[in-house]
Amino acid sequence: MAHTAAPDRARPLRVGVTGIGIMGSNHARVLSAIGGAELVAVADPDQAQAQRVASFLGCQAVGGHADLLALGLDAVVVAAPTHLHHPIALDVIGAGCAVLVEKPIASTAEEGREIVAAAKAKGVTLMVGHVERFNPAVRAVKDAIRGENILSVAFTRVGPFPPRMSNVGVVIDLAVHDIDLIRWITDSEIVEVQPQTSAALAEREDIALLQFRTASGVLAHINTNWLTPFKARTVHVATAKKYVIGDLLTRQVTEHFDYRPDGSYSTRHLPVAYAEPLRAELENFLSAVRAGVAPEVTGEQGVASLDIATSCLAERAEARARSSRRRAAAG
Ligand SMILES: NC(=O)c1ccc[n+]([C@@H]2O[C@H](COP(=O)([O-])OP(=O)(O)OC[C@H]3O[C@@H](n4cnc5c(N)ncnc54)[C@H](O)[C@@H]3O)[C@@H](O)[C@H]2O)c1
Repeated sequence: MAHTAAPDRARPLRVGVTGIGIMGSNHARVLSAIGGAELVAVADPDQAQAQRVASFLGCQAVGGHADLLALGLDAVVVAAPTHLHHPIALDVIGAGCAVLVEKPIASTAEEGREIVAAAKAKGVTLMVGHVERFNPAVRAVKDAIRGENILSVAFTRVGPFPPRMSNVGVVIDLAVHDIDLIRWITDSEIVEVQPQTSAALAEREDIALLQFRTASGVLAHINTNWLTPFKARTVHVATAKKYVIGDLLTRQVTEHFDYRPDGSYSTRHLPVAYAEPLRAELENFLSAVRAGVAPEVTGEQGVASLDIATSCLAERAEARARSSRRRAAAG
């Protein structure tokens, strides 16, 4: 049983999660407690892990998304490793189920575009899990700068290596969050990229300093790495009249404003709503599925952010090739 029409409003949506690692377990936990949804099953080739999560949450455990789809679901969350998003999402869409694909939408923008095209052809809801959009601290920052002349946006997203290394580097895995936020906060597309990346300890890039310019002229910067022993996630936004600082972990947001000729200025802490970002994301997804409307983070937006992330890597590879040609020519 697959559903392409908007599901009956009177019954809970039947949902499943495939890929029950760190992120998938969080999705399953939230879905098991959300109104209007029934967590039917979780899927993972690691049967012990799927069974552990299923028995804790009171749902079925299956080995993969094909078994999940056989249960007749309205929606599936794909939280498998990034390189599997493309084949799994296409199967889920092919079965007529709505799909929330974890970020990044896929390993390449081309794969992402295929997912978007398939969802459009089948008429099913597609959302990408850019969960930071639902972080109340990020929302408070966006509210604080509404109507302001934004000059620059700088993100820091650093921490230790993830417990299980996937086969993408820090740009595709972490910076893509902030690329999405830069596009969202500035309401403008990124038109220039100036990336510096390095593989200091890992096979793929594990440290990156990325600079951007948006079509609206905002300068943006991302400092990200897997080489810092603690997690830090901050955003600093300079507008013509304000400097706003947000801590995305402690959810403290402060604005400095009312700059005076003597160098003094005012500072205030801004109110930040209490909300679990993942819950808000999933609620948005489920209500989009029910209403048959676009979710807050569409597939197209997921592709646009991934496109910028991959262009950082391509640009960096070209710059490296140019500089080795120059070194060779210099003898
Ligand atoms: N939105 C966020 O803030 C956020 C945070 C972390 C991870 N993620 C994303 O979530 C995804 C998973 O990351 P993670 O950190 O949870 O990884 P993880 O390694 O903890 O979990 C991945 C799980 O997928 C399972 N898996 C492997 N092959 C599978 C298959 N064919 N079908 C179903 N499951 C399969 C693995 O057994 C594992 O349990 C990645 O795409 C990552 O980018 C997003």
